[in-house]
Amino acid sequence: MFRFLFAFGLCWICSGQSINPTSKPIWNATYTDLLKKDLLIGYDKFARPAQHYNMTVVSVKLTIRHVELDEDKSVFSAYGWLASQWKDEKLKWKESDYGGLTSVHMADHELWQPDLLLYNGATGTLTDMYGNSHCIVQSSGDILWVPPTHYQSFCQLDLRLWPFDTQECTILMGSWTHHGEQIDLQINDKGVELDLSTENNQWEVTKASATRHQKYYIPNPEPYLDVTFNFTLVRRSPMYKTVVITPAVGVILMTLANFWLPAQSGEKILLNGVNALIIVTFLTYFAQRLPSMAIHTPLVVLFYSSALYMVSFSMIISVIVINLSKTKQAQAIPWYLKRVLDGCFGTVLGLKRISVLAPKQQIAEELRDQPFDEHVTSDDHHIIQSCSKGPIQQDYIILATAIDRVTFLIYCFVFIVLAITYSV
Ligand SMILES: *[C@@H]1O[C@H](CO)[C@@H](O)[C@H](O)[C@H]1NC(C)=O
Ligand SMILES: *[C@@H]1O[C@H](CO)[C@@H](O)[C@H](O)[C@H]1NC(C)=O
Ligand SMILES: *[C@@H]1O[C@H](CO)[C@@H](O)[C@H](O)[C@H]1NC(C)=O
Repeated sequence: MFRFLFAFGLCWICSGQSINPTSKPIWNATYTDLLKKDLLIGYDKFARPAQHYNMTVVSVKLTIRHVELDEDKSVFSAYGWLASQWKDEKLKWKESDYGGLTSVHMADHELWQPDLLLYNGATGTLTDMYGNSHCIVQSSGDILWVPPTHYQSFCQLDLRLWPFDTQECTILMGSWTHHGEQIDLQINDKGVELDLSTENNQWEVTKASATRHQKYYIPNPEPYLDVTFNFTLVRRSPMYKTVVITPAVGVILMTLANFWLPAQSGEKILLNGVNALIIVTFLTYFAQRLPSMAIHTPLVVLFYSSALYMVSFSMIISVIVINLSKTKQAQAIPWYLKRVLDGCFGTVLGLKRISVLAPKQQIAEELRDQPFDEHVTSDDHHIIQSCSKGPIQQDYIILATAIDRVTFLIYCFVFIVLAITYSV
């Protein structure tokens, strides 16, 4: 037992010796190994690699590969990479000392990097923004770092012109902790480049720009720098054109057609009801489809809701018109109304034709229906009464038709006004 323990201990010591860090590796170190060891001994990657009174110039250029816009959350996402360059005063070497080695690759966690973060970021997490990727270090200390990025920023959506809207989204980037005298943020080339690998099928990026801003916050003497990337997104809307605009035109036409149905026809109510149903269906669709947090109500929705008001009002007019023309009236229409209807006003509205073409047969039929009413006393008496009522009834039908025609003209005017208001 004791001998076994002794052998075990000896074995442990042997294995400990074999991983002794002071022993040299069995492979020969390359110039890169030597260089990295020499560069990184005592290197503090959290210290800005320049004297505190010197600036570190960081130049950036964003390449966009794909964009997305989440309308419900108002979040704009940009996928791409951010090419950033700066000079590290500590990572310099003489090429001849290392076999003519001009550049070396280092992992991004091995050396100092500018803390470029989004000021209007939609994700609080800072580390997820850049993927891990290596840096290329030149012997002059110039560093190139091109990490893949996924920027997410809040974008104030303006859906007033939906579905023909254009959105302006910005990415505001800057050093999180350094001011302008420590890190001088510069734009490389134009600052932003569109290289869309997969087009977004809902949005088209029509413009992208980058601008550098320098701001002073009063008590501090140092400037604060940021780079603003602006993107103009245009909604691709061929589908919405047919789905949203065509029904609107249909509803207008049907509402107007309603006024040309004969004054006595009960189908007016039916047509209005169908119209109202279509509009309500669309309003429900909009409520489902559109985000509720937009500051403006889309004009299309306003148009549909005013159309619903108009159809409801048209329903009231229809009820009045049908009531006037179908109910048996005891009194003749007031003389001034009759004079107006018989005058040139009636000619303009085309009411004269109705007087001529008024279906006498129909009136006769209505008279025949009369016996079913409760106030039937004597047939002779009744027929005399009805005959005397005939022309009165016709006047009411003409009055009802006049109301229809006038409302038609008003509706035409209102729809034109609405269309002009909502198409600008
Ligand atoms: C390491 O370098 C020495 C001398 O230059 C050479 O003799 C040896 O073969 C090398 N070893 C390996 C593993 O390359
Ligand atoms: C650092 O600042 C000093 C003083 O302003 C200047 O002389 C020197 O050239 C600067 N060094 C670099 C690398 O910019
Ligand atoms: C970028 O967007 C901001 C905020 O929307 C705006 O103030 C600025 O004028 C825009 N810049 C350019 C160059 O379009």
